[in-house]
Amino acid sequence: MIKTTIAIDGFSSTGKSTVAKRLAKALGYVYVDSGAMYRAVTLYAMRNGFIELDCFDKEGLISQLDSINISFKFNPKLGFAEVYLNEENVEALIRTLEVSQFVSQIATISEVRLLLVKQQQGFGINKGVVMDGRDIGTVVFPDAELKLFMTASAVKRAQRRYDELIKRGDEVTYEDVLNNVQSRDHIDSTRDDSPLTMADDAIEIDNSNMNLEEQFEFILKLSEEKIKSFHKKKRH
Ligand code: DC
Repeated sequence: MIKTTIAIDGFSSTGKSTVAKRLAKALGYVYVDSGAMYRAVTLYAMRNGFIELDCFDKEGLISQLDSINISFKFNPKLGFAEVYLNEENVEALIRTLEVSQFVSQIATISEVRLLLVKQQQGFGINKGVVMDGRDIGTVVFPDAELKLFMTASAVKRAQRRYDELIKRGDEVTYEDVLNNVQSRDHIDSTRDDSPLTMADDAIEIDNSNMNLEEQFEFILKLSEEKIKSFHKKKRH
């Protein structure tokens, strides 16, 4: 069966990865969390002193990009691939509010983007991929057969992310999480290189008032329709 590429972009904490993971499973596709790659580079930058509250040594980080190896390994227990930084499983470490506070700045660096986009395009070479991020439908896979753009109000997104962090046992305040969501929205959509924008041919989904099940059912239906029409086109 011919496979397609599904690009899911949108603002932070819109639940892209939750729905993308389920969708990939249902379709038998590979799921790639491109944000995890930017987060892993951020963790590397934090550990090596390239980014702190009052310091951002872009050039230092750029000069070390050769030493950063990011990979994914499927964890059968979890049912998805976890991200590794230089062979260390960093899946949990990259989800902290601290990493979230620096990741958008790291994602403005063109050299970082170039490196990660190349790797992301490699993951999609055989199609059958669901990838989520900010520039998947515009830059990474501009020819994706299905492009979705997820939005929700900042307040809803912050509440969801706050609940998630508290559940993990992280000590955060709702205000800090809301500030982070708003500041990342701003940096991600105004940066010079590959800013977050909706592709012309993307379908916008505002999930402020949708639960996970409703979102999943809606997106699965869209995907199946797209895949069917893609097959029909291929046959003609
Ligand atoms: O999806 P996420 O919240 O884990 O992404 C973390 C950050 O990485 C996000 O604020 C911007 C950046 N990012 C990006 O610039 N391009 C992508 N394709 C994915 C993420």
